[in-house]
Amino acid sequence: MKTVVRTCVAVLGGVALGLGAALAQPAGDASTDIVLRNTITGEAMTLADGKPGGRDTEAVKTFLKTGKNIYIDDRSCLRNGESLFLTSCSGCHGHLAEGKVGPGLNDNYWTYPLNTSDVGLFSTIWGGANGMMGPHNEDVNPDEILQIIAWVRHLYTGPVKDAAWLSPEQAKNYHPFKEGETFSKTEPGRCKPLEN
Ligand code: HEC
Repeated sequence: MKTVVRTCVAVLGGVALGLGAALAQPAGDASTDIVLRNTITGEAMTLADGKPGGRDTEAVKTFLKTGKNIYIDDRSCLRNGESLFLTSCSGCHGHLAEGKVGPGLNDNYWTYPLNTSDVGLFSTIWGGANGMMGPHNEDVNPDEILQIIAWVRHLYTGPVKDAAWLSPEQAKNYHPFKEGETFSKTEPGRCKPLEN
């Protein structure tokens, strides 16, 4: 019995040392400085599982370092984001994100106020929320999520002063989506046309 206890103490000591060493590592050397947390449980999430691909783009790397989504306002990414949104989200949220079985995403009311940041919105899409809002990390990869976010932000019709995700410069020039606006395959920007 005594030996068992001693072994346990030794093992625990080892774990504690290990943790100490891990904490001493500079944060963010795996190029992640932001922490993604599940919208409901607050648990930290990683991008380790989920749909493959879309993890080493400049946009994803910038996002993981700074929380900034460089696809906002990029017309080539809006084109892709629209298409991804129509495939994965509009069935529940409406094609203008006006709300259906899922809440509207185009106004300034948020069940989870963290969704006014792109890190919060990314986390909700990746890890899900309650009920029918399951995790979407099997349908869309991180880069595609950033494209969807750019689109959701473009659909916003609420007061610009509540659009916390816009930089002051973007807020000045903000024009919400008008039905009938179309995006061509040759839009200039960072996002290549989707394959299908
Ligand atoms: C099967 C239906 C369904 C699909 C598909 C779906 N959602 Fe949802 N979504 C919901 C429901 C229902 C809620 C409310 C859940 C809650 O309050 O916890 C929700 C909540 C949300 C919220 C939180 C809104 C707030 O007010 O804070 C966001 C953001 C969101 N969804 C985005 C998306 C995006 C983006 C997609 C596509 C990748 C998507 N959803 C796909 C049903 C769905």
